[in-house]
Order: sequence, then C-alpha cells, then structure tokens
Amino acid sequence: MSGATPRSRGGRADDALVVGLPEIVVGRGSVATSRELMTGEYDALVLPVAPPPSGETDVQPRSGTADAAARYGIDLGDLAARLRPTGAAGESHTVELPRGVGATTTLPWDGLPRRLVLVGVGGGGAADLRRAGAAVARATRGLRGVITTVGADAGADGTRAVAEGYLLGAYRHPSWTTGRPAPGPAERLLLLGRYAEGAVEAARRNARASWVARTLASTPSSTKTPAWLADRAVELATASGLSTEVLGPEELAARGFGGLLAVGGGSEHGPRLVTVTYEPDPEPAGAGAARTDRRTGRRRAADPRHVVLVGKGITYDTGGISIKPRESMVSMKTDMTGAAVVLAAVLGAAAAGVRHRVTALLPLAENAFGASSYRPGDVLRVHGGTTVEIANTDAEGRIVLADALAHADADLDPDVLVDVATLTGAATLGLGRGHGALYATDDRLAAALVAAGEDTGEPLWRMPLVADYGVAVESSVADLRHVPLDASIGGGSITAALFLQRFVGTRSWAHLDVAGPARSPRAEHELPEGATGFGARLLVRWLTRLR
Ligand code: BES
Ligand code: MN
Ligand code: ZN
Repeated sequence: MSGATPRSRGGRADDALVVGLPEIVVGRGSVATSRELMTGEYDALVLPVAPPPSGETDVQPRSGTADAAARYGIDLGDLAARLRPTGAAGESHTVELPRGVGATTTLPWDGLPRRLVLVGVGGGGAADLRRAGAAVARATRGLRGVITTVGADAGADGTRAVAEGYLLGAYRHPSWTTGRPAPGPAERLLLLGRYAEGAVEAARRNARASWVARTLASTPSSTKTPAWLADRAVELATASGLSTEVLGPEELAARGFGGLLAVGGGSEHGPRLVTVTYEPDPEPAGAGAARTDRRTGRRRAADPRHVVLVGKGITYDTGGISIKPRESMVSMKTDMTGAAVVLAAVLGAAAAGVRHRVTALLPLAENAFGASSYRPGDVLRVHGGTTVEIANTDAEGRIVLADALAHADADLDPDVLVDVATLTGAATLGLGRGHGALYATDDRLAAALVAAGEDTGEPLWRMPLVADYGVAVESSVADLRHVPLDASIGGGSITAALFLQRFVGTRSWAHLDVAGPARSPRAEHELPEGATGFGARLLVRWLTRLR
C-alpha cells in the first residue's frame, strides 16, 4: 500500500485517520465580568455586529460588544469608523491593540486579549450564524485561546449554528506539503454569554461527521484504494463499537454482485463491499408492547426502524473505456463522497445514541481504464439477477448502487432506504453547487430530509421521478439499459434516479445526487476548497430526529 501520510497531521507512519476537532467550552459570566479575559490564555476576543437597520447607517453592536467596549475603554463608534464593518454574515475585521511604552505606561486593555475581531452576524438566523462561526475560525487560526460572544442569546439553534460553523470553518484538508503547514485552528474557543451548552455537543457530532467525510474524500486515490477505504471504515466503526463486514472480490462473485465486480474489474485494486451496522441499546422493558398496534397488528410509525444508507464509493473515476476528458477527471478522487458520507452518518448516529438501527453499505470500486475494464455494450447481472446493458462505462455509479440497493431490498428488510451519490454532472448543471438533488418515493421522508438539510446548511431540492422518462432505461437486449440511448430525453439526473428506482422494490426510498455540492471551488464560509462532505451533517440530524 502506498500510504503517504499528511505531514501537517503529525507525520504518522500508519494510515489511521486523524479527526481532531478543536475544543469548545461554554463559560460562565459575561465580557463585563468574566475573569477568563485576564488569565493570559486568550489571544483574541471576537464580537458580533449586525447590519444597520433599514434607513440607518450605523452597524449594530450585538451581544457582549458594548460590555467589551466598556471594559477595554474603547469608543465603539470610533472603532467601527476605522474598521468599517457592514455586519454582513461571515465578514470579519481584526485590530491588534498596541502595548504601552516601558513598564510605567498603563492602558485600559492591559491584561486583556489584545486582538479584537468584529464578526458580522447578518440577520442573526441559523445560516448567518453558521457563517459567523466559520468567520471566527478563519480569523483566529494559529492562536491559542479565543473568546467570543457571537451568537449568544440566540437560543439552542443559534448556539448549534455558531459552534457548527466554527468547527466547519476550522477544518483543514490533510496536506502533503514539505514546507511549513498552514496554521491550524485556535486550540480552544470559549463561548461567553447565554449559550445552550447541550447544543455544542450536537454541533460537535454534526461537524465531526463533515470532518470525517471531507478527510476521506480529499485523500488522493494513490492512497485511497477500495481496500484502504474499507480499512478506514472498519477502523472508525470498530472504534465506535459498531460491527462491520467486508466482502472482497471472491465473496462478491459468490454472492452475485456483478455490478461492483464489473466496475471494479479494470483496476489492480479490487472492489469491496463494506457493511457497518449500528444497533441501538435495547429499549426499556415494556416499551416493546407499544410496538405493534393490537388492532391492526401493524408497526407504529414511532417505533425504532431499520434505516439502510447506501453511498457511492468510486475511489477514482476515470470514466473507464468511455474515458473522461482530462479536465473532468482531475476532481474524481472525491467520487466516493457518498460512501464517506454514509459512513460518517452511521458513526454520528452511534455517537448520538439514536434509537433506530442503522446500516451503512459502502460499495467501493475504482473505475479504471485497463485491459480488464468492462465495456460499452456489455451486459451485466447485478445482485438479484437483473440484467443491465452498459452503454457508457462512465455511468458507473448507478451500477454499483444497483448492486447495493438490490441487496438492501432483498436481504436487509429496511424500513427506510437512502442513498447518497456524486452521480451526475446533470445535477450540477441543474442546481449548481449549493443544492443537492433529492428524489424520493415517500413525501414524508422527502420533507424530513429537506428539513434536516435546512437545519444543517446543506440544502436539498426535491426533483421529480418522471415516470414517462422511464423509456430511457429500457433495453432491447437486457432487463434495463443504464443510460439513455436517446439524448433528446434529457434530464440526466432524473433518468439516473429512475434507473436506481428499479432496484429498491416498494421501499420508502430517497436518493441524494450530490455531484454539485460535494465539492467547492473555493474556501468560503463553512466550506473548504475541494471536498465538502456535503450530506453528512444532514443525515446525522435526520437520524437523530427520526421518530
Ligand atoms: N462521477 C460522475 C459524476 C460527476 C460529474 C460527479 C462531475 C461530480 C462532478 C459520474 O460517474 C459520471 O461520470 N456521470 C456521467 C453520466 C453519463 C455518462 C450518463 C455524467 O454525469 O456525465
Ligand atoms: Mn463516471
Ligand atoms: Zn462517478
């Protein structure tokens, strides 16, 4: 295994995945009174400002800002006139207060953090506070301790948004530079004011899921073979007390996973199917009686359910024989984002102790170009026996998902089935990089996923499963054709979803096509440049609220 390891993460000799989130603590008291400001452990104080109300011109100091001005003996209006903040969410302005001359000059801010940062909180909603939290992280890299009042008084949702934004903005991709690594986030963030302590824990779980997905997705494919990714999944799952199973090529052949084997066939690094299972602690005695409605004998909606998550795990997508143009291939190390996201989600569900059983399926393969690659015109037999005519080997994601979804439907009896995939360029064309495309056979499930995405800043847009476009997946030589012959049908993300739908039986199913938001062209607000881990927080949030 050629496992070069990131130097900035300590140059470890092994391949263990390092996910070290900075510390966040909730302090007592306020900026006016807290002794923490005088301990010398904090380098910066970060204060919130909001845009002027309509018709006015002055930015609005928010929670803690006036207290700070009084304690520092600084005229806030003058500070604002120098720095000219607009209060827009995620904007930041920093001043370093000077030291006095010699030992005899005393200044009002002696002993207090010398760096003051004004961060814009916009309208103060969760999305704005997430951006503000990320701005706190970006403005304080390389420092030891940071104190902030950003998002204080904004309730539990506000606290979660600020803490989540902070941790997301603090994230750095692993780096292989031999030079000096970029500064990491401040070691400790102290939230000073009226914050909801419990919400920090939820923010940490959500952010950790994003960190795990981002780190896996940004790892180069020279390291990230299917076997390597399977090892990381097992390692992370085992550390969280979850059970795992990994199938290699022989087992996959014995169990009829013809899709995963075909897609992975062109690579010297063979495919894997990883299953990670989280079993909640048994419910207290007596709770079981409420599980079935005595009259109808049906299970009740509020009962623990079995959720199966499936994530596309293409460790590199060259397109195969239908090779991609060179520019399109560069970012394809992130084509396993779906697998990373569902792995992160089941880990997050376990950390939150959700009451549902959650199984994550990771079909992992490298779509390589080689003498043993599958070809356009081939007919494959996927799990369960359905035959599929291949038209374009670059539409590999739906093939490996077909295997895993059919296996879930036939063998795992899920109450809810959700897949996540960087599936089509068409989804990016339609929705851009901000929104994920959502397809669902169940309106309640769709609404719950959309709501979770709104809560975590990972917006989904529901798309239709247009039955009329089903001709796109009809074949004259096999049960199905995996991409349309007739380009005039259009709707490439929809026809991909229609293909997947053929493998989910009558399950309550949702499909997230995250090809657009899985990557960000630039570091902005809570997003890093490159792999974003889009969907990981959303799934953790959805699972913790699922009734
Ligand atoms: N992994 C790609 C989709 C993708 C494209 C993700 C750009 C992220 C950015 C997928 O395997 C693919 O190649 N899809 C093809 C399907 C086509 C051949 C029907 C596409 O979208 O062009
Ligand atoms: Mn492809
Ligand atoms: Zn792909």
